[in-house]
Amino acid sequence: MKITISAIKADIGSIGGHLSPSRKLIEAVTESVKNNNAILDYRIFYTGDDITILMSHQKGLNSSEIHKIAWDAFQNGTVVAKEQGLYGAGQDLLKDSFSGNVKGLGPAAAEMEFEERPAEPFLLFMADKTSPGAYNLPFYLSFIDPFHNSGLILVPEISQGYRFVIMDMGFKGEGDRVIELETPNNIYDIACLLRDTERFGISEIYSKSGDQCVSVSTTRLHNIAGVYTGKDDPIALVRVQKNFPATGEILSPYSISHYVAGFMRGSHIGPLMPVKVNTMVSYFDGPPLVSGVALCVQNGKFTEHIDVFDHPFWDSIRAKASAKAEEIRRQGFFGNAMLGMDELEYTGIVKKIEGLNNKFIIKQEKK
Ligand code: F6R
Ligand code: MG
Ligand code: MG
Repeated sequence: MKITISAIKADIGSIGGHLSPSRKLIEAVTESVKNNNAILDYRIFYTGDDITILMSHQKGLNSSEIHKIAWDAFQNGTVVAKEQGLYGAGQDLLKDSFSGNVKGLGPAAAEMEFEERPAEPFLLFMADKTSPGAYNLPFYLSFIDPFHNSGLILVPEISQGYRFVIMDMGFKGEGDRVIELETPNNIYDIACLLRDTERFGISEIYSKSGDQCVSVSTTRLHNIAGVYTGKDDPIALVRVQKNFPATGEILSPYSISHYVAGFMRGSHIGPLMPVKVNTMVSYFDGPPLVSGVALCVQNGKFTEHIDVFDHPFWDSIRAKASAKAEEIRRQGFFGNAMLGMDELEYTGIVKKIEGLNNKFIIKQEKK
């Protein structure tokens, strides 16, 4: 059976700052999504202040009908968020009315359409207080590096490689500026682009036979709104096993707890901490979080989910991430602890420096 899985997420308000949505808000979103004939099944999760609606259906990619279900749910949730006086109510709903799909309206989407395999395991990652480039390093390693993906040397189908679609997230024109590159031939070209996590982001990965196995919500809110309204808190869908990397190979790079852009005021660098699903934000509005759920889908019906980072192994990784977060915070706003001027979510400093610029003088050496 050919199905589409769509994950659509938005921040529409949270308790006590940008920390976590309220129970009533989650209930309102759930109430709005359920009993919708267009979808075969759904699940709702949150990570930090973002709510993700996972849906299965047969309406294809970018379906207006499906995106409207999510848009309406976020609108209905916003009514509750306002009633409760939640902070940032309706924050990610950047436009007043729905038109076609959620692209360009604020919420972010990751979607895949495929013919269900006899068993169809997949993962949904949800990150908060960071940007889509946070997934560059983990997916690069899971699809290219045999240290993380042993299938690259053990399984002939996997060692054939994959096709990466990489988006230029700095592009401000109409449409998406993308490049397609194949592994293993183009791995150094892929590396050259993916190292720049704020400019380039993986948006899709396909097997050589054309089956999609990764979809990342690679958009940039500040490009949509024209101004920088926040980091994009990305989600990603990954089909796993058989010709695709195994679940454990996809999870392996998260043990690095690599440094990503985001954290407090979307303007700092912090380690990406793998957390249990439905975890809130805390220290210095972070650290940047990623949660993951694993499910199977059969005839469009989801199994219950497994919380992939809810395992004793990840406790020591979380402790390491805390230590890395504390360490980089010791240098405050100096050097690499804070993002470059182009990436700051709050631009007060840019105006300050413009003001100071006029006060600079040129001192000439007396001849
Ligand atoms: C970062 C984030 C938070 C806020 C911070 C200040 O993406 O959501 O770190 O930037 O809490 O929020 P405001 O400006 O709303 O007071
Ligand atoms: Mg937020
Ligand atoms: Mg968020």
